[in-house]
Amino acid sequence: MASASEAPATTRVPRHLAIVMDGNGRWAQRRLLPRTVGHREGQKSLRATVEFCLRRGIGSLTLFAFSSENWKRPEGEVGALMQLFLKALDREVDELHANGVRISFIGDLSAFSTELRERMQQAMARTAGNRALHANVAVNYGGRWDIAQAARRAAEAAVAGTLDPATIDEASLSPFFSLHDQPPVDLFLRTGGELRISNFLLWQVAYAELVFIDTLWPDVDAEVLDAALREFARRERRYGMTSEQVAAAG
Ligand code: IPE
Ligand code: IPE
Ligand code: MG
Repeated sequence: MASASEAPATTRVPRHLAIVMDGNGRWAQRRLLPRTVGHREGQKSLRATVEFCLRRGIGSLTLFAFSSENWKRPEGEVGALMQLFLKALDREVDELHANGVRISFIGDLSAFSTELRERMQQAMARTAGNRALHANVAVNYGGRWDIAQAARRAAEAAVAGTLDPATIDEASLSPFFSLHDQPPVDLFLRTGGELRISNFLLWQVAYAELVFIDTLWPDVDAEVLDAALREFARRERRYGMTSEQVAAAG
């Protein structure tokens, strides 16, 4: 298998990569360790993924870190995840900032502790001017929540008189969705073997290429990500057209 540095420069690379980082719990359970050890181990893959995107020139990365449904997990696991988020914010932001990474959090942040919320806001404000990579971390995020909040804000704009309900179409609704300021999601990758979206991006994946791999998130490295990129590069994106039309358009 080609190493990270050998991937041909001509390969079509996604502008926006979205990842469901799944399989931490199973990674730990297979080693007879508590699930939370898997979450901790998964942070290494996260770091490797950010470095990979910087090297490959992927401009936007969106990571599913905590879904709106993950609150249903045992209290101990949810608490451990919150501690991990806090520690990661403390530890990683300096280096991400030094590497030109802009950090955004998407999701309903109101559910988090004031401390965590403030740290997330500080990280966003501090890195807002960075351009090397836009890393979006989805926390307490749900695709249906995103649609509902977009509808609510559009309704508010209509009431305020800045949006005419009669003219609402896909283009005028788009700016109300998370990630609207970034290129469309080109590649949607899920690790851990499950073939589902689990309420991650819905509106935004309309024409994303979907790639599902069995590798558990803590085992993901640059080689695994390069294989996903090669799979992406093999796909023909037709957007409703015929192969002949796509070929003619070059
Ligand atoms: C994904 O790994 C991380 C979060 C949902 C926070 P899981 O914890 O879902 O791992 P599995 O799917 O149980 O192995
Ligand atoms: C999706 O994984 C959420 C994250 C990776 C953060 P889950 O493990 O929660 O998804 P389900 O429950 O298997 O659908
Ligand atoms: Mg899971």
